Amino acid sequence: MAETTDLLNAAPPRPPLPFDVAGKVALVTGGARGIGYATARRFLEAGAAVAVNDVDAAALDVAVAELRTVGPPVLALPADVGDLTQHRPMIDRTVAGLGHLDVLVNNAGTFQPTPLDALDPALVDQLFTVNVKGLLFLSAAAVEVMSPGSSIVNVSSLGGVRPPFGGLAAYHATKGAVDSLTRDMAITWGPRGIRVNGAGPGGILTEGRGQVTEHPLFPPEMMTEIMRRAMDRPLGRMGYADDLAMVIVFLATPAAGFITGQHLLVDGGYYYA
Ligand SMILES: NC(=O)c1ccc[n+]([C@@H]2O[C@H](COP(=O)([O-])OP(=O)(O)OC[C@H]3O[C@@H](n4cnc5c(N)ncnc54)[C@H](O)[C@@H]3O)[C@@H](O)[C@H]2O)c1
Repeated sequence: MAETTDLLNAAPPRPPLPFDVAGKVALVTGGARGIGYATARRFLEAGAAVAVNDVDAAALDVAVAELRTVGPPVLALPADVGDLTQHRPMIDRTVAGLGHLDVLVNNAGTFQPTPLDALDPALVDQLFTVNVKGLLFLSAAAVEVMSPGSSIVNVSSLGGVRPPFGGLAAYHATKGAVDSLTRDMAITWGPRGIRVNGAGPGGILTEGRGQVTEHPLFPPEMMTEIMRRAMDRPLGRMGYADDLAMVIVFLATPAAGFITGQHLLVDGGYYYA
């Protein structure tokens, strides 16, 4: 009872720099290109050190060389997040190289189409291994070294909430699973001071979109129609990787310190199109 009274009477905390991430250490998976790269860049520009992971070691080398021109330290972590044996070494290398780990951005993902009438079991396994198991086990390894005030951002998808078009059923199911994990992680790790949120892209211009736009399941005339509908969203344009990056960094700031278990769509209103 005394404790409750103390809480009710205490002055509310007022972070002096609510949008500051300077001095934090962020680990971004799938950071060689696209949303992951843009996120790593935004963290660095805001003064955070960043460990950047990617399965494409050559692309990661190029990305890290560019990112090192920004300022704060950058550590390269080439690894497949779908390989659970890589998680502990990734976390250990981050802590050894950059001192601590405050933010994990689970961005690495693969989104190959999976026609429901011609399912490829190996592809479905791969989608779940990378997008779900990788994210789940890496997060569990990360929280072991995280202190109160840390946070995790899971990059999900509009497609897990409202498929904008057909053909990606298994991929969309992986993102539905990610949203479910975001909620469970939030209630489990919240009492340890660790917040967990999702950022859901919808129709973002990245290299990875080629997995869909160049797939035989989507011939040019169908792709034109899909693009027409994508542009017909309230904000009238496709998204950029940086649209996501800024929101992901925000979710890791003290300004978002009372937000957990949420999935924030970053889709220009595509949900309503
Ligand atoms: N672009 C969009 O419109 C869109 C929409 C919804 C969701 N997303 C999600 O956003 C995230 C990033 O997508 P993007 O568009 O930037 O894709 P992208 O393909 O441009 O970049 C993804 C990066 O992740 C890396 N990667 C893939 N598998 C990996 C693995 N097993 N281990 C480590 N790295 C791996 C790739 O090499 C690549 O560099 C994904 O989770 C994706 O599902 C994107």
